[in-house]
Amino acid sequence: MEGKKVAIITGGARGIGEAAARIFLDNGYKVSILDIIEGREFTKHSHDENDFIFVKCDISKEAQVKNAVSKTFEEFGRIDVLLNIAGVVIVKPIEEITVDEFRRVVDVNIGGTFLMIKHVVPIMKKQRTGAIINMASVSGHVGQVRHSLYGATKGGIIAFTRALAWELSPFGIRVNSVSPGSVDTQMLRDDVSGEAKRLGRSYEQVKKEREAEQAFGRWAEPKEIAEAIFFLADERASFVTGTDLLVDCGWVAK
Ligand SMILES: NC(=O)c1ccc[n+]([C@@H]2O[C@H](COP(=O)([O-])OP(=O)(O)OC[C@H]3O[C@@H](n4cnc5c(N)ncnc54)[C@H](O)[C@@H]3O)[C@@H](O)[C@H]2O)c1
Repeated sequence: MEGKKVAIITGGARGIGEAAARIFLDNGYKVSILDIIEGREFTKHSHDENDFIFVKCDISKEAQVKNAVSKTFEEFGRIDVLLNIAGVVIVKPIEEITVDEFRRVVDVNIGGTFLMIKHVVPIMKKQRTGAIINMASVSGHVGQVRHSLYGATKGGIIAFTRALAWELSPFGIRVNSVSPGSVDTQMLRDDVSGEAKRLGRSYEQVKKEREAEQAFGRWAEPKEIAEAIFFLADERASFVTGTDLLVDCGWVAK
């Protein structure tokens, strides 16, 4: 293949998605960043402006996904890697979750992953090569209190990944997922603040408990998850498909 490889990254404006966008740019990829928020933080960093585009896109809306995938293809001419990183969390006792909240979490976490794959796969099939990495979570492996709905979407993503790995293997497309433990991002900080408020405890107390779920007693930096994502996308993982890579610092192993 001539020229740079191309990665399309959902949720790339901040957190794990932003860290992944930087690693792919650092490794010579062209990157298309899809998000519902502006990526102001990202543009501060010194990468060649010809190497990335931002497309405002709500991944739960098919017309927006279709448009974002077309824009990426028009701009860069191919799509080698799809990173389905965008997601939303809900942390509540089950009986307090409204039907609208249920729909939003399922529509973004599973629906968005589905729509992105549906619209990127025809391009990858024509190329007869591609790598898809979906974002699962330890919540898809262990029973995390008040995270039941979120965990259900992440468990669904792991099952989705396994079946797609087989369905897309004849076309040279690999499909894997990553299951992080706690990662220091806005999502986790909001989750911990909400829990602290609900339980009448301090942010620091709840944070300490959440850190202790990792064997090193700390949260991951977004970059530590992005490195694992990069490995799965890279040629070095050419024999890896249908797997879920736990990047949880031993949480599930306990
Ligand atoms: N932070 C953690 O501890 C942790 C642990 C395990 C898994 N995860 C998963 O990692 C992924 C990234 O999480 P993060 O911690 O970086 O969160 P984050 O909230 O910091 O970033 C998520 C990004 O996704 C974007 N997004 C949300 N809904 C969207 C939509 N409908 N369309 C397009 N973009 C949308 C947000 O705007 C944001 O930029 C999520 O799928 C999350 O479930 C996070």
